[in-house]
Amino acid sequence: MAIDFSFYSPTRIILKRGSINSLCGYLLEFSPKRVLLVTGQNSLRSSGLLEGITKSLLEKNVLVFNFEGVKSDPDTAAVDKCLSFAKKNSCDMVVGIGGGSVIDCAKAVAGLFNEKGFKSSADYLEVDGTKNISSRGLPFVSVPTISGTGAEVTRNAVITNTAKKTKRSIRHDFMYPALCLVDPELALAASFEVSRASAIDALCHLLEGYMSRKSAPFSDMLALEGMEFILSSISNLKNNLKDYGTRESIAYASLLGGLVLSNSGLTLSHGIGSVIGPRYGISHGVSCAICLPGTIELNLPALNKDKQDKLKKLFGGDVAAKVRNILKFLEIPGQLSCFGITEMDINKLAGESLDTSSARGNPKDLCAADVADLMKKCI
Ligand SMILES: [Fe+2]
Repeated sequence: MAIDFSFYSPTRIILKRGSINSLCGYLLEFSPKRVLLVTGQNSLRSSGLLEGITKSLLEKNVLVFNFEGVKSDPDTAAVDKCLSFAKKNSCDMVVGIGGGSVIDCAKAVAGLFNEKGFKSSADYLEVDGTKNISSRGLPFVSVPTISGTGAEVTRNAVITNTAKKTKRSIRHDFMYPALCLVDPELALAASFEVSRASAIDALCHLLEGYMSRKSAPFSDMLALEGMEFILSSISNLKNNLKDYGTRESIAYASLLGGLVLSNSGLTLSHGIGSVIGPRYGISHGVSCAICLPGTIELNLPALNKDKQDKLKKLFGGDVAAKVRNILKFLEIPGQLSCFGITEMDINKLAGESLDTSSARGNPKDLCAADVADLMKKCI
């Protein structure tokens, strides 16, 4: 097999138990004066972490401006509002502490901060918009409180386009976080529902990134390592949410999944998820997982024998069947009909799923009818 690849990841990554307590020190290395702290609903405040971080920075004469309350699946309006808040307060650094939604919103704000003639983040969405980022934004630090999306190390922010009911990415090499600090202990507070959706999202990234037509030996190595960690720990989520070792393994796998997807892209399963998720109110990880077994069956024959053999060995034979078992064990519905999707909807959804950046990485060439067939099998 020819060794031929390009791999880019400029993010400094720290994964360490209790590292949240050292966040202030790491931030000071950037010499900030006015930090925008983007957070979610209120768990960070109720845990006392928000107050602690703010106090530590203030003691070092760094002002903190907290944009609180970012909801799941942030839309362009949320990004625009947060960006105005950052500009109004002349922030010089952005820190996102939370789940994938918080990190995506914060990353988009940091990335768009210095764009000349900015009107709306909607203009910068892939497929739906017409503009590309052309300036370096603010230094961005990601601190995931739940692992799975990989957003902590990627160069894209997934944003909902409310007007078109789509989920698209704002993407640029300038958007890589400067620093990613992962403290797996933070995930111990997450519910089973959030944890399973995040973990299955990570598995999708690793598997799809490995299958992607843009995959390469270096990212494949990371994908296989990540899948091994996910497979050995994902079932523990159901039995023991408070097990630190499980959280650590999934945090590591999520990181690897982010590095893989950033370099290798994804496949149809994420393409379908990004269309049906916002339309039918399905959480991101679940929406991408429903058609994952079908996507594997469709694409596995398109991989070379070596790659197929490695996957089969890792998954103990039938890869799609093993994934179906995992979904069943985690009580993730495997049918589109569970979310109100009918056969009547399929043709339109299939066409839109094919027209996504994720689907472009699919190793097997597909037409809309192929996607519709796959979706009908999942109905
Ligand atoms: Fe994802």
